[in-house]
Amino acid sequence: MTQNVQVNGSYWLQTAPGGAPRPALAEDLDVDVAVIGAGVAGLSAAWELARAGRSVAVLEAGRVAAGVTGYTSAKLTVQHTLVYDRLRRTRGAEGARLYARSQSEAIEHAAGIVAELGIDCEWETRDAYTYVRAPDRVDEVRAEADAAREAGLPASFVTETGLPFPVAGAVRVTGQAQFHPLKYLRALAADLEARGGLIFEDTVVHGLDEGTPCRVSTGTGASVTARDVVVATHYPVFDRALLFARLSPRRELVVAGTVGADRDIDGMYITPEQNTRSVRTAPLDEAGRRLLIVTGEHFTPGTGDTRERFERLAAWADEYFPGVERTHAWATQDIDPTDTVPMVGPLHPGAHHTYVATGFGGWGLSGGIMAGRLLTAQVTGEECAWSGLYDPRRLRTAVREAPSLLKTQAEVARHFVGDRLRPAPPVDSLPPGEGAVVRAGGDRLAVYRNEEGTLHAVSPRCTHLGCLVDFNAAERAWECPCHGSRFGTDGKVIEGPATKPLEQRDI
Ligand SMILES: Cc1cc2nc3c(=O)[nH]c(=O)nc-3n(C[C@H](O)[C@H](O)[C@H](O)COP(=O)(O)OP(=O)(O)OC[C@H]3O[C@@H](n4cnc5c(N)ncnc54)[C@H](O)[C@@H]3O)c2cc1C
Ligand code: FES
Repeated sequence: MTQNVQVNGSYWLQTAPGGAPRPALAEDLDVDVAVIGAGVAGLSAAWELARAGRSVAVLEAGRVAAGVTGYTSAKLTVQHTLVYDRLRRTRGAEGARLYARSQSEAIEHAAGIVAELGIDCEWETRDAYTYVRAPDRVDEVRAEADAAREAGLPASFVTETGLPFPVAGAVRVTGQAQFHPLKYLRALAADLEARGGLIFEDTVVHGLDEGTPCRVSTGTGASVTARDVVVATHYPVFDRALLFARLSPRRELVVAGTVGADRDIDGMYITPEQNTRSVRTAPLDEAGRRLLIVTGEHFTPGTGDTRERFERLAAWADEYFPGVERTHAWATQDIDPTDTVPMVGPLHPGAHHTYVATGFGGWGLSGGIMAGRLLTAQVTGEECAWSGLYDPRRLRTAVREAPSLLKTQAEVARHFVGDRLRPAPPVDSLPPGEGAVVRAGGDRLAVYRNEEGTLHAVSPRCTHLGCLVDFNAAERAWECPCHGSRFGTDGKVIEGPATKPLEQRDI
């Protein structure tokens, strides 16, 4: 599996037929709620709101569930690596309990939807494990097992797992799930439309006027008037509360390949060691073969060599699952909040009818389903026990975790200044298929040389806040290390928070 990993796209997106593209928003519209973004968070919110009797329009820049949600590992678990011990320390026992309850309730709710709508999404019940192999880290998983149990979860400390290597210790949480996220979400989207909800694809939202009602303007020229607006664009594209200062992007790689039925691992696994390794399998065919899905090697976008990281991840899969036939490799990124808990609730301190869901920290499937429920309760005026825990306006706890906030900002400052001092190679040194920030005529240019040798130049200044982008050769994209914006080799935005393309330059 190790030689020359080629990034060839997500298994989920390739195995759930998307159907014909939905139309873009062509004329002005008036609805109760406009939802921006059709990932797991936006679609879950839209579906819950439609079920609660609201008229809903979903505005999606690309296609349904083809953002981060289309590239996940798709574990639906309340076990989020080592979160409960951290929450017990920072939010107290009650905060940890509310987190556990909100995430458990989301997974049970999703299971109920699967049964109610009869969705065939390869739902499998599995135990979830966070393991360590280093004996000096066993205390961490013991503490996590204690904290998770105290938070009300079926958690225990174990030393035996279904992995093909020994572990020093693990936390096991029983009765969690894994599924095919695209099959689930495409069925949810179809049911939303059957309930009268509207979904527009290829519709980039670029303006939000908060008023009574709110007005959302789009790149097609048409706009939506709505009493309430949910911003579920992963990184919030409207950010009056400057949430970006409390969020940091983390890119992660995935390799997947076929293993025989006898090689299943009877569980879902993750370790914080080795820069994260996460493993699950998915059903493949009637012969019982499984798709082994290995995730890890996280990094800040726009830093370091992604090809080497892919090779390391594939080598790990080879070492522990010899004979695995690699079929897929892909990558995606999530956003870590500086104080551990996702931000779901009012968009800013003065917001009355605008809401946000972001900062899922690598666990936005249960988190996105939870966010859909929580935002629906807020729009419809119902009480929800965990509103306060997830409230994006919670500056008090953010300040308590000030060291990680300061670290995030120091990193941004380091990139903003330091990357400008980086030596820039001459353009002639660029081989085909490579890109780099080069110096030309006293200016810096982000230059990509395609396989035919043609040069494409854009400005290296990220259109979000001006940090310099760097080239990710494995995925052929420009990436910004400050807040994770990504751009194609032609400068077009692939992923925000930037909303404008990199400026074209002549070379
Ligand atoms: C490698 C990896 C593995 C993961 N595995 C798991 C896992 O096993 N379990 C788990 O719970 N979580 C997992 N996660 C996290 C989870 O996948 C994410 O947290 C979740 O998918 C985020 O969903 P979202 O709806 O917020 O974002 P997205 O799915 O990205 O949806 C946002 C949507 O908004 C659209 N959009 C953006 N800007 C605009 C605009 N201006 N106008 C209109 N639309 C716009 C985008 O096109 C996109 O479709 C993983 C993350 C990574 C990186
Ligand atoms: S993403 Fe913020 S400066 Fe680039």
